[in-house]
Amino acid sequence: MENNNQAFSPFFWMTQPKVTEQKHHVKEFVNPDEIPWTDWLMPGTQFKLLYCDIANGNFTILLNVDPGTQATVHWHLGTAMAYILKGGFYYHEDDKGNMENCFTCETGGAVHQPFSPEGCVMLGIMMGPIAGYHEDKLVVIADAQLHYELARQNNAVQYTTVVGYVKEAEK
Ligand SMILES: [Fe+2]
Repeated sequence: MENNNQAFSPFFWMTQPKVTEQKHHVKEFVNPDEIPWTDWLMPGTQFKLLYCDIANGNFTILLNVDPGTQATVHWHLGTAMAYILKGGFYYHEDDKGNMENCFTCETGGAVHQPFSPEGCVMLGIMMGPIAGYHEDKLVVIADAQLHYELARQNNAVQYTTVVGYVKEAEK
């Protein structure tokens, strides 16, 4: 069947990978070693922004936590998932153990203050903002936009996959 108006043919769009906007504007595979660390929200932590969906508020980071870091109290407004690549952290004394290559899920609504005695590196997938407290006062709502701005100010968004309303030209 011939369809002269190709733009309205699902078959046309599903068979023409070059006409839809895809991964032509960023590297297909990113080596995080090429991205500088940017100071994260808590003392002793740094991140690399790998993916940032400004419109929906989801973002993915590589997060480094220095040895001996006690996180400040924070509240996850959306679920945060982490895959531990190196080291580990725990919420309670009885959580201690080898966490390398382990997955953890901090569901939306969680409020906690994890501790990392030996430091860690993790892939963090955030499904919403993180609210940070200092001396019992809410001091920051760290959303995808804030993470983008922090990384951009550090010239660390060159290899970030950005979706939403931030255009490549604004990098
Ligand atoms: Fe957390």
